[in-house]
Amino acid sequence: MPQDTFPIRRIDHIRFYVGNARQSAFFYRHLLGFSVTQFHGLETGLKHEVDYLVEQDKIRFLFSAPVRPGHPIAEQLAIHGDHVQDIAFEVDDVDWAFNTAVQRGATPAREPYTLSDENGDVRIASIKIYGDTLHTFINRDNFKGHFLPRFVDRMEPGIPAGLIEVDHCVGNVELGAMNKWVRWYEEVLGFNQLISFDDKDISTEYTALMSKVMSGGDGRVKFPINEPAEGKKKSQIDEFLEFFGGPGVQHIALRTEDIVATVTELRRRGLQFLRVPKTYYDDLPARVGAIDEDIEKLQDLGVLVDRDDEGYLLQIFSKPITDRPTLFFEIIERKGARSFGKGNFKALFEAIEREQEIRGTL
Ligand code: FE2
Repeated sequence: MPQDTFPIRRIDHIRFYVGNARQSAFFYRHLLGFSVTQFHGLETGLKHEVDYLVEQDKIRFLFSAPVRPGHPIAEQLAIHGDHVQDIAFEVDDVDWAFNTAVQRGATPAREPYTLSDENGDVRIASIKIYGDTLHTFINRDNFKGHFLPRFVDRMEPGIPAGLIEVDHCVGNVELGAMNKWVRWYEEVLGFNQLISFDDKDISTEYTALMSKVMSGGDGRVKFPINEPAEGKKKSQIDEFLEFFGGPGVQHIALRTEDIVATVTELRRRGLQFLRVPKTYYDDLPARVGAIDEDIEKLQDLGVLVDRDDEGYLLQIFSKPITDRPTLFFEIIERKGARSFGKGNFKALFEAIEREQEIRGTL
């Protein structure tokens, strides 16, 4: 293993800019099983925006919305719609992380600053990545509170759906920009490239894309980066770039240790998933060999399976969770496999194309 030149403890939280944070919190609580745990807004002295923190096991999402016209968040929302704005890392030393990243070529978004209340201090700084997306560095070693100073508890427990942690987070960038961001993650954050897929791996009759998977924080943080490739019609990446208004986060994969139970429950609650044709399951035993799960059950739910040298994985993809065909979720269970489901790409992209056809964007 190459030496880790940029220590990252973990993904601290993912911040979304949304038009209505109260409704987003409700959606993630009742549909995906998150608990609403912290709040900061008008009632707690924040005069221009509102923040809701939701949590499930190790996953933390922060929803931020403007409460007055002219707020910078409102301008971002006008361009992108509801979106992932920031993937925040917990680090040992925020000043070191920020200064080192900037020395290595990162564009600063916000210089290191301190937030304080009676529970102590939290140090924070941010750098820019693709599009309007940020990586924030955060350290709360000198803070006894739960999340950030001046946030107050909000006890609205959800019924967990078995989602444990963020497995990976995928960015879509413009044609020709993938290698630039691969180099950026290597040079600035000391990430390594795990895998690459080219258009021979990821192509259907109509569309193609390229993807490289970057990994950092001693393997705890995995970021695939996609770019469109030449195809007969508009690829799902082109569709994303058009509707998002540039590069941004395309999907977040959430790990479960029981995908059958998780997806059964999420379907019951109304989360909509992509469907692959029944024929996908005909050659599944031949392709992946023996697995613990009942294939009929997987077929009922639409769960996909892929195998690599180390084991297998089960995965399923939601339909977009916003009005725009931009952000979606993946639910993934890993049984030894550390890859990303290459054997499913074709079936999956054909399923996405059927949705694109309906949207008239293929
Ligand atoms: Fe994924």
